[in-house]
Amino acid sequence: MILDKHNRIHNYLRISLTDNCNLRCFYCMPDADYSFMPSSQLMQSEEINQIAKTFISLGTNKIRLTGGEPFVRKDADTIIKNLSAFPVKLSLTTNGVRLHEFLDTIREAGITSINVSLDTLQADKFQLITKRNNFRRVWDNIQLLLEHHIHVKVNMVVMKGINDGEINEFVAWTKHAPVHIRFIEFMPFTGNRWMDDKVVTWQDILGTIETKFSWIKLKDEANDTTKKYRVPGHQGTFAVISTMTSPFCSTCNRMRLTADGRMKNCLFSKEETDLLSAFRRGEDIVPLILGNVKAKAAERGGQFVEDYHQLQAKGIENRSMIAIGG
Ligand code: 5AD
Ligand code: SF4
Repeated sequence: MILDKHNRIHNYLRISLTDNCNLRCFYCMPDADYSFMPSSQLMQSEEINQIAKTFISLGTNKIRLTGGEPFVRKDADTIIKNLSAFPVKLSLTTNGVRLHEFLDTIREAGITSINVSLDTLQADKFQLITKRNNFRRVWDNIQLLLEHHIHVKVNMVVMKGINDGEINEFVAWTKHAPVHIRFIEFMPFTGNRWMDDKVVTWQDILGTIETKFSWIKLKDEANDTTKKYRVPGHQGTFAVISTMTSPFCSTCNRMRLTADGRMKNCLFSKEETDLLSAFRRGEDIVPLILGNVKAKAAERGGQFVEDYHQLQAKGIENRSMIAIGG
């Protein structure tokens, strides 16, 4: 069992397969020219397998694959197949662009729920946010998953003046489709042009929804990062992720592995532990994993202040989102 000094059990590992992506969302990719990690620096599929196995031997029972975009990696199907043989709940976060090419792999691996990032329901705005013209592809792929009864969670990063006018259109989508929409408060990462006045708080998100819909509160699971709701009579549900205004760190069970094999104990942690180099030298990585989690801060990597308006985004030491893995 992996415990931190605040007695939180850590059993959920998020593995980034690559920092590369086929979209260019401005809130994720850094401003400056970003060079992707050379592939020799990335964990190879067998290394992912072995490192994951070590985590599982320490009690990890849930693994999520992330990126960048996990499906731009050529051997993503091998990695998924390998990990699906372990006794873990396996899932994925993807931008959805290449989902149709991996449907068989997903089904064979027994994956029953997928998180798809989609911040707008308008094709031209999709192009504005992601700098690519892929709205239709992503939309069709979400329908494809639904047809195959794979649960879809849609991640929507709410940004003032950009897509906050679409909140109720996303909620309306849940009327006839069994999708779960997750409205995410905009978070600061290195180079992502975060501004406090672009944050839409979960209270404001709910306030907007209340102008059009009534809702009932659903029960949240242990370790949930979301607060869940349903509009009575709607097939689907929605939730808010309130990292900025009301963090859920007290029940955190998450650990992260970047694509270059560095372990992070929090999305906002400064410190990283280089598991891959130790693994390549043939060293035991168990003490490194345990030590990394022991050092975990109580909340948001110890780098935030209570009121996000006071936050100096430039003062936060971290990687860009694309290099961490969502
Ligand atoms: N703030 C909030 N969410 C973000 N994501 C990426 N960058 C940010 C940010 N700055 C989300 C993406 C994706 C998930 C992995 O993280 O929308 O769905
Ligand atoms: Fe790619 Fe996701 Fe980042 Fe957009 S948010 S650039 S889809 S990794």
